[in-house]
Amino acid sequence: MTGLEAHYSVRDVEARILAALRAAGLNPEQRLSPEALGALDHFHTGGFRASRVLQELAHICAEDHVLDIGAGLAGAARMLAASPGCRVDCVELSPDYCAGAVLLNRLTGLEDRVGVHRCSALELPFPDASFDAVWMQNVGMNIADKRRLYAEVRRVLKPEGRFAFQEMTAGDAATSYFPLPWATAPAENFLISAEELLSVLDESGFVVDFFEDASDEQSSGNPVSNAPEVSAQAQLSLSVYVDNLAQKAENATRSLQEGQIRFVRGVVRAK
Ligand SMILES: C[S@@+](CC[C@H](N)C(=O)[O-])C[C@H]1O[C@@H](n2cnc3c(N)ncnc32)[C@H](O)[C@@H]1O
Repeated sequence: MTGLEAHYSVRDVEARILAALRAAGLNPEQRLSPEALGALDHFHTGGFRASRVLQELAHICAEDHVLDIGAGLAGAARMLAASPGCRVDCVELSPDYCAGAVLLNRLTGLEDRVGVHRCSALELPFPDASFDAVWMQNVGMNIADKRRLYAEVRRVLKPEGRFAFQEMTAGDAATSYFPLPWATAPAENFLISAEELLSVLDESGFVVDFFEDASDEQSSGNPVSNAPEVSAQAQLSLSVYVDNLAQKAENATRSLQEGQIRFVRGVVRAK
């Protein structure tokens, strides 16, 4: 097991998810809506709401075939599959998250629209030009080989296809508060600056449609919390499968407030 797989490993993930759903008053025997799960399965800055923002920025529509890279429990993939209604394939390194994603696909009745593939973003098991859009939220921070990552994204996109992403990037000072939600220790933390990110995207064959530093949206609150208003059930939270969440979230907030990290989002297009 690699360090990263250990970081994201979750014992009994299916049992934990089912217990949390029941504790939240949801009946797993009845079809669940992706919105009702939003506080549980959007493991990224800004939660469910940030996923909708990214969808609108990237103009994702029902006809799009989307690839979600580092999909986690595939919350965003189900959101896109339910509305606007696209077909989404997910790639995810962690077998536990894949198992959780498959379970939630079944409970939402979206298993025919959301595929889950256990593999690395650095070796995507798809032919060239397979997708209309590639989607990635809070994943690049775990991947050292950015050139290979973005070359793979570009390879599987059709010409003019969109790559929609949100990431933490390096700020002006070194990252010093650990654990963070994506890294227990510095050896797992692969942040580059926004300028370096734009440069490697350019070299990988993308033109920028939209790019913004949205750190101010997040620095006053919890940058890994999900919008609680999408789910009144407080039992649904990332803490179902993220250990030590409170400390990780506090460290992320502090790192943002002190400018050690930045939060960016963008949509770039394959040349
Ligand atoms: C912070 S989580 C974000 C999950 C999901 N994108 C979301 O927003 O809910 C980062 C995810 O990236 C996955 N990941 C990291 N490196 C990966 C790689 N090389 N290939 C595939 N998945 C990877 C991790 O296993 C983890 O599920």
